[in-house]
Amino acid sequence: MNIAIYPGSFDPITKGHLDIIDRGSKIYDKLIVAVLVNVDKKCLFSIDERVELIKRVTKDLDNVEVLSFEGLLVDFARLHNSKVILKGLRTMSDFEYEFQMALMNSKLNPDIETVFMMTSSAYSYVSSSSVKQVAKFGGSINGLVPEELIEEVMDKFN
Ligand code: PNS
Repeated sequence: MNIAIYPGSFDPITKGHLDIIDRGSKIYDKLIVAVLVNVDKKCLFSIDERVELIKRVTKDLDNVEVLSFEGLLVDFARLHNSKVILKGLRTMSDFEYEFQMALMNSKLNPDIETVFMMTSSAYSYVSSSSVKQVAKFGGSINGLVPEELIEEVMDKFN
């Protein structure tokens, strides 16, 4: 079975993330969305909330599992018998950071490959941090996060 890991903070999950999950689930037998617990990064949503929100919007994708993780991603991948880390790429600025992480992960475990998938052009400008900034100042986040989560994200700032 070809299992891929799709890691991130997902604070909160955006339509760009969901697009990668949807497309990734079609090319791997199983896709595990791995949500980083993020001990030193201040998150808007708790780890349990982030996992629950992703579970809710991926409930119709039968081969997608959502789990949290701490520590090294390559250790989490090995624990779940995965040899693929799936990442979405939006821009050249993503590339530099992602390339560095891919090389580090490859150094830590050369058996695990990082595979990059281009984000759909419709979402190439969407990030969790820009969504939070727009929501914080009362702008519309329609089309940026899955519809069923809009109210919950806006509520965090009320
Ligand atoms: O959504 P993010 O915050 O850009 O995701 C970053 C993530 C979770 C992919 C990255 O921080 C990560 O893999 N963290 C686990 C620690 C690790 O394995 N570090 C070594 C590679 S640099």
